[in-house]
Amino acid sequence: MAHSTDDAGVTRRDFIYVASATLAALGGAAAAWPLIDQMNPSADTLALKEIEVDLASIVPGQQITVEWQKKPVFIRRRTPEEIKEAEDVPVDQLKDTQFPAADKDRVQKPEWLIVVAICTHLGCIPSKDMKGEFGGWLCPCHGSQYSTSGSVVRGPASQSLRRFNTTFAANVLTISL
Ligand code: FES
Repeated sequence: MAHSTDDAGVTRRDFIYVASATLAALGGAAAAWPLIDQMNPSADTLALKEIEVDLASIVPGQQITVEWQKKPVFIRRRTPEEIKEAEDVPVDQLKDTQFPAADKDRVQKPEWLIVVAICTHLGCIPSKDMKGEFGGWLCPCHGSQYSTSGSVVRGPASQSLRRFNTTFAANVLTISL
């Protein structure tokens, strides 16, 4: 069943470029994602309604970044400890009051967290190398911190990392609108 998902530096080696529709090079960890591009995706990008990602080689604790719909997307295979940490956070303590969601409502499979890798404050790309105090991601621009559920916990961002729809079939993840 498709699952609604919201939206997190990223270096070039982290990217799996998806098909020929893939796109502009990303900047460094603190580069702001061009919001104008998000709002005006090209016709050929919009035509790519979904992508498939082979998850077979991703080990627990590993994260990759793919690019789709002109956005970087973090795919993290969470460890049991990361899952428990995410599940233990009470919804009423989440900073995101607009779209508060328990961890179980942010993932289709507890092991896999798929979030748009764009900080909800001003559009920087959270660092995959700096997990912050809460084990998820730290945005180097102004210090927003996200949990292992992609929920914002600290800093100026007020919404959790956004998500796309996801479905799983064997070791293949499909991300769609
Ligand atoms: Fe991420 Fe400001 S853009 S904290």
